[in-house]
Amino acid sequence: MAAATDQSTKIPDLTDPQTFADGVPHEVFDVLREREGLYWQPAAFGTRNGGFWAVTRYADIVEIEKNSADFTITLGNQFPGSDGAFAALRDDMLVMDPPRHTKIRRAATAAFTPRVVANFDPWIREIVNEILDETLPLGEFDYIEAVARHLPARVIARVMGIPRDQRERIVKHVDAVFAATMAPDAGVSMFGVMEGFFGYAKELQETKLHAPQDDMVTALSQLVEKGDLDQNQYEQYVQLLVMAGYETTHTLIGQSMRMVVEDPEVAAAADKAVAEGNSTRLVDEFLRYTCPVMNMVRCATRDMEVFGETIRKDDVMQMYFTAANRDPAVFSEPHRFNPSRPETATLSFGSGAHKCIASALAKLEVSILFEELHARGVKLELNGEPGRGQNVWINQLHSLPVRVIR
Ligand code: HEM
Repeated sequence: MAAATDQSTKIPDLTDPQTFADGVPHEVFDVLREREGLYWQPAAFGTRNGGFWAVTRYADIVEIEKNSADFTITLGNQFPGSDGAFAALRDDMLVMDPPRHTKIRRAATAAFTPRVVANFDPWIREIVNEILDETLPLGEFDYIEAVARHLPARVIARVMGIPRDQRERIVKHVDAVFAATMAPDAGVSMFGVMEGFFGYAKELQETKLHAPQDDMVTALSQLVEKGDLDQNQYEQYVQLLVMAGYETTHTLIGQSMRMVVEDPEVAAAADKAVAEGNSTRLVDEFLRYTCPVMNMVRCATRDMEVFGETIRKDDVMQMYFTAANRDPAVFSEPHRFNPSRPETATLSFGSGAHKCIASALAKLEVSILFEELHARGVKLELNGEPGRGQNVWINQLHSLPVRVIR
């Protein structure tokens, strides 16, 4: 497409989940990225000023994310819901600016450093093999249902210290929360679904304080006892870790396998990368390409002239990580899947103060999955139409029917 400078290209409604029904509209983002300034997308709901600025360039997003004084997260971290409706979640670090955010975030970061996470390898490998043993003998199955949903749910349950027989509860709860995020009154709906989970987090807290274990819920519960977290902050924390730990990783697992079974060139490149011991690089490239969290939001705290536009206070800056990951200013041949590419600094985990705390964990889970499939010599093929979700925020895949061919 001779996209680049084309001002006449019709831009679809980026607030409409239908726009994302057939896939991420990368040809549209290519056009927007090349235009001067930013693109204003009108929105009938979910923002204070009736729309959002679509930010598609890598450098612009990094600029916004490092400047929380001008671009706050406190009105909401996503669209819809970037109109202050998330005020109810004020004790969730996802909607806090520094310095308040810094202290709360610190409670969990040490548990997810690459060094700590590297020690999780043996038990994550056990979980991966447990799932493959349960699934592969079926011959035909839905990869999302059988693999993508179970792996991150079991891993985050283990990290948090949630008992085995309650792992399914996580999946059901998080699915309900993410469904609520697409409602026009997202903040209100989502909070309603979340409330049920807070009671559960409290039950877990009581159990862990009675019988402490080496897990995240115990650690967070003890911080409440010491007065470093308050009760609301604790409940929101447990919820955030469970949600963030499950949904995003399950999307990466599903979308990466979809690419493998749909495209023999991707399958060959993936095979080669794993055989050469480069599964981490492979996962980096899957992350760049599939970008599970397509975007996040910040809101302007004042009127200002920036990025070639007049930005008003409360204007929503919709940061399309998925577009930035294909920015030719950063990635050579950005629409080519290439696990050997030298550029690996994707925006799939965001940047700045809110950058994902557990990228090492997500990457390890998915690397091990590809390694263990490879070690077993397993090849899968598509066995029906994949079922995409319609969602303006997460690059969802609801089903991926596959068949084992070897
Ligand atoms: C493929 C998997 C994952 C992806 C794509 C992903 C992506 C993201 C993104 C885009 C953000 C927001 C960054 C920003 O606003 O700049 C984020 C934040 C966060 N993620 Fe992840 N994430 C993944 C896995 C995980 C896992 C496994 C956990 C927990 C165990 C986790 C916990 C968090 C938390 C707690 C935050 C909020 C950090 C803060 O507000 O300071 N994520 N993640």
